[in-house]
Amino acid sequence: MRDPTSFLKQEYDDLVRQELDWKLRVLGGPSAPWCLVDGKRVLMFCSNNYLGLSNHPKLREAAKHAVDTHGAGSGSVRPIAGTMDLHMELERRLAKFKGAEASLVYQTGFAANAGLIPQLAGKGDVIVSDELNHGSIIDGVRLSPAERRVYKHADAGDLSRVLNEAERASPEFRRILIITDGVFSMDGDVAPLDKIASLGAEHGAMVYVDDAHGEGVLGEGGRGIVSHFKLPRDKVQVEMGTFSKAFGVVGGHVSGSRDLVNFAYNKSRTWTLSGSHPPAVVAACIAAVDVLEHEPQHVQRLWENTRYFKKAMTDLGFDIGVSTTPITPVMVGESGKAKRLSTRLYEIGVLALPIVYPMVAQGRARIRTIMNAALTKEDLDFAIGAFGTAGKELGIIPSTK
Ligand SMILES: Cc1ncc(COP(=O)(O)O)c(C=O)c1O
Repeated sequence: MRDPTSFLKQEYDDLVRQELDWKLRVLGGPSAPWCLVDGKRVLMFCSNNYLGLSNHPKLREAAKHAVDTHGAGSGSVRPIAGTMDLHMELERRLAKFKGAEASLVYQTGFAANAGLIPQLAGKGDVIVSDELNHGSIIDGVRLSPAERRVYKHADAGDLSRVLNEAERASPEFRRILIITDGVFSMDGDVAPLDKIASLGAEHGAMVYVDDAHGEGVLGEGGRGIVSHFKLPRDKVQVEMGTFSKAFGVVGGHVSGSRDLVNFAYNKSRTWTLSGSHPPAVVAACIAAVDVLEHEPQHVQRLWENTRYFKKAMTDLGFDIGVSTTPITPVMVGESGKAKRLSTRLYEIGVLALPIVYPMVAQGRARIRTIMNAALTKEDLDFAIGAFGTAGKELGIIPSTK
């Protein structure tokens, strides 16, 4: 007799044996510089809440007020009865912030990638993707019957090669869609979007950037990677992002032409077939855009903190990889050692989690730190001290530093 469920336990046990299972850390309160994590007060050093907005008074207030004016839920999917004035206001405000003709908001960034990519390229088309793109892009691409071609990470020369090959294909492809992360979440490096956009223009390809880790971080006032490279809007046709990181709330979004948004309103299945955000979430997202427009100090502070931390870690002798953004990987190499470093940091009072195989290649395990604008210099010195102590104990840095 076939056992329909035994694989559940077997596969989970396998993950536990290989130490690849997620052990959930539980926050007993807001995501703030100092958090209660599993009952212990620790410095938060790995959240995506770059600007500390998740606990900003204006966002908290906006969320509470929206419950009073609009209730707890939206009641439907967007195209039926789930579009409130708040959703429309958020899309208007975001488009203005991004300098785009129009924006649309999804439930999550994952839903944006999974729902839009398969509509932009289908049978007879080709999708050209960076080899280190985020899993949500990979899944979006898998949902499309288009042909897939992968180019070497952040390598415009290799992208050019792949595009030339695609152009020579027979039968000819109908459409070409190039997709890249803006900031790569594991290494913190930035895609050469200026070169990618030029290649897109040369080959008549659509360029799609996932700027989840670039907005609130790069560009004028945190407007993201398109602003960072000062690219004309029509050179990057799809700018996708998320409210779950620097904006401090939750929700995916896409900005571009009005044609793109009208198309997605009607064809993107994660948008048309899934309930819309509750009012509190939408109002908090509007407040986050407002804070970014009126309080530039958060982005400035994020970069000051980033520079201070990177320099101190390099001085201590840590290998901090190739990042040029507030994501700073502390390279360790072996998975077990990365896990021991994370455990020791937690004992001292810093939450910074290990990233190990299969999330990164074998031998490339690391602690991925993410800077936060709300951390003070004292907080940073505390974290640097903790890394120094634990790094020496584990033989990751020289004991003389
Ligand atoms: C590059 C990238 N794209 C998309 C997502 C998904 O965003 P969300 O959390 O809004 O689903 C993430 C989040 O991990 C990400 O890092």
